Amino acid sequence: MNRDDFPILKNNLVYFDNGATTLKPVQVKNAICEYYDKYCANAHRGDYKISAIVDKLYEETREDVKNFINAKEASEIVFTSGTTNGMNMIVFGFFKNYLKEGDEVLITLSEHASNIIPWFMLQKENKIKVNYIDLDEDHEVTLDNVKKAITSKTKVISLALITNVIGDERPIKDIAKLAHENNILMVVDAAQGAPHVKIDVQDMDIDFMAFSGHKMYGPTGIGLLYGKFDLLDKMTPLNYGGGMNAVFVKDGYVELREIPTRLEGGTPNIEGVMGIKAAIKYINDIDIENINKYEKDLRRYLITELAKLDFVDIYNKNTDSNIVAFNIKGVFAQDTAIYLDKYNICVRAGNHCAKILDNVFNVSNTVRISLSFYNTKEEIDLLINVLKNSENIWKEII
Ligand code: ALA
Repeated sequence: MNRDDFPILKNNLVYFDNGATTLKPVQVKNAICEYYDKYCANAHRGDYKISAIVDKLYEETREDVKNFINAKEASEIVFTSGTTNGMNMIVFGFFKNYLKEGDEVLITLSEHASNIIPWFMLQKENKIKVNYIDLDEDHEVTLDNVKKAITSKTKVISLALITNVIGDERPIKDIAKLAHENNILMVVDAAQGAPHVKIDVQDMDIDFMAFSGHKMYGPTGIGLLYGKFDLLDKMTPLNYGGGMNAVFVKDGYVELREIPTRLEGGTPNIEGVMGIKAAIKYINDIDIENINKYEKDLRRYLITELAKLDFVDIYNKNTDSNIVAFNIKGVFAQDTAIYLDKYNICVRAGNHCAKILDNVFNVSNTVRISLSFYNTKEEIDLLINVLKNSENIWKEII
């Protein structure tokens, strides 16, 4: 699907590391070059024509993001540097003031570091408590287990929409409903979800959500933060400085601007915004539902073929997303990745920033394949052949 838009694929590259970052289509690159070539100016600061073009495109992009996730208002969208930045803004800009000593946060052992460490830090600072929702036998979150984990002190549930190693998609709409019935706020890390499934923040009733541009065919260094207006309006900025203030005077009096400007202090990542605008258009043109269906079909094919190799352990056979985690029995994950790289096959190996997941998997390092719409069955056939041919090599080494 649309492979010609990705020049890097012309070099016989098999790119299976889309969970780390996706490739960028020429349309995204062209949008960034056009900004630098035709209207390179700062945003919200100039009184000349090219600056007005930038302002228009910048705010149009906010509207595009709003529509992409079906937020109510464009002012609920903040440009950040990525999911990590967004999660830190949510935790330290909002929950640091909101949570009191003894309040509880629910996460799981399979979250990414950016949905764990900020909470751990707040646990130290505010004396809150981070608790874990049990995972089922497929390492997934069930509504029943969420119910069991909720106590009278639970104030926030913070979950990935799709996890980055197991690849399970959480029933966020049901969890958010349960959360709100118990006066609990719902935070979603959508880094691995936004490029692959349709998100409707109003229908899912999400309170805060963070995701990254570079995992959805956009450039690195740009991220998106969503917050319901009334909640976002209570968020304290982490960056004070230019652009975000309305007034400041000598005696120290400062008046801040309205949201979202108040939360975007300093010159923003304008090329990133231009890139994400093109990336969202690109995804919309293919249609996220088509992407989702294609990737799920491809994953089923990969699982079927991989399962035929009796020297391979698959850790997430039953999940239904674009992610497959496996190991060759007895072989260190990084060795498998280096071997595959000899054939120009890019996979990620290691703990994938989900460092407490080994409490669930009983293995700290896995090989991860994360598919995208430009991957093909032919690429999977190549992978399977290369793995088959490796069996004797491992036998000799181990
Ligand atoms: N968080 C990214 C991944 O899962 C980098 O690979």
